[in-house]
Amino acid sequence: MSEKYKPQFPRMAQLKTAADLGNYLTKNDIGLPFDETLLPSSESPFNRPIPLKSGQTIGNSLCILPMEGWDGTLDGRPTDFTRNRWKKFAISGAKLLFGCEAVAVCHSGKANPNQLVMNANTFPDFVELRQLVLDAHTEVFGKTDDLVIGLQLTHSGRFCKPKSHKAFESKILYSHPFLNSKFGMPADYPLLTDTDIDQIIEKYVEAAVLAQKAGFDFVDVKHCHGYLGHEFLSAVSRDGRYGGSFENRTRYLRNIVAGIREAAPGLGIGIRLSAFDMLPFKKGPTGAGIPEAADQYPFAFGGKPSGTELDLTETKELLALVESLGIQLVCITGGSPYYNPHLMRPALFPPQMVTCPRRPTARGETANRCDT
Ligand SMILES: Cc1cc2nc3c(=O)[nH]c(=O)nc-3n(C[C@H](O)[C@H](O)[C@H](O)COP(=O)(O)O)c2cc1C
Repeated sequence: MSEKYKPQFPRMAQLKTAADLGNYLTKNDIGLPFDETLLPSSESPFNRPIPLKSGQTIGNSLCILPMEGWDGTLDGRPTDFTRNRWKKFAISGAKLLFGCEAVAVCHSGKANPNQLVMNANTFPDFVELRQLVLDAHTEVFGKTDDLVIGLQLTHSGRFCKPKSHKAFESKILYSHPFLNSKFGMPADYPLLTDTDIDQIIEKYVEAAVLAQKAGFDFVDVKHCHGYLGHEFLSAVSRDGRYGGSFENRTRYLRNIVAGIREAAPGLGIGIRLSAFDMLPFKKGPTGAGIPEAADQYPFAFGGKPSGTELDLTETKELLALVESLGIQLVCITGGSPYYNPHLMRPALFPPQMVTCPRRPTARGETANRCDT
């Protein structure tokens, strides 16, 4: 961080009491009313069950967002660190585990060498992971018939780092005016072909079939945080079947869903969506992040051409499409940790890094990490 820049807002963790938070909200004219004490669980609105069209019921309205720890083995299997995290998801009290963590559909699509992968070799590990969740949940809550467990399936697209934490092996859909150079790609870096995309879709379907066999209730077809699914939504300059029009940019989602419906009937499908996006940010003169300069920026899905304002017209179109595809589970997030992390995570520090913030891994070392 620049010596000059001092954050002008407190960390959430510094607001220790309800009164601290209340004072902060009042001082900053933020209308966010809240109860100062929690209601007993029998009266809590969080404790209401949510019936799904599939016939399943989510036992309450608490959800664990997917969260990876970059702690799998190099061949995509969980370690004790992974198992420990999943156990914590299980005993959290939430009855919806929205994907547990990002699991790549193929090795070349991993966001880091230690990301989990779902394939025939790793399948038994996922059977065990899910059983561990069921056992831990039962131990604390006595039953699992109201626990809904998803598996987030991902391909990291532009942000693939399958072999080394340092080296991108990007798979991109279009040449991006800022992101190509920011992540070390020349403007003419090769694009995934439509045939490559068809093959990735097959991998998604294969992974979903295995997820169903392993007992997961649904798979999350990840469309957020700048990864491949999300990049399709902004591929306005791409030619061919998967770019340009809204219809073409959503073909990837529609083809994956059709493939899963055919090969894994009955498996639930969800989508984690970056519902809005903005220009990439960079370090400004004071050390605080500023957006890249662009008169017209067409690559922010859910954003105006200014690149810094929202326009949710296409987002709503996508949500209507998702509904028409029979997808009931939608998890909304925004932006990407690789180029505008302040849109999604409670950020104390401004987005000023060239790649990603250095953060401790489960093993204690630091690495350039953009967990999503
Ligand atoms: C350590 C860490 C790991 C994460 N792993 C994932 C992941 O595997 N999949 C995912 O979709 N998001 C992941 N995220 C993003 C979070 O689920 C969540 O989106 C983020 O904390 C901000 O919340 P928001 O999206 O509601 O703004 C991760 C975040 C952190 C801090």
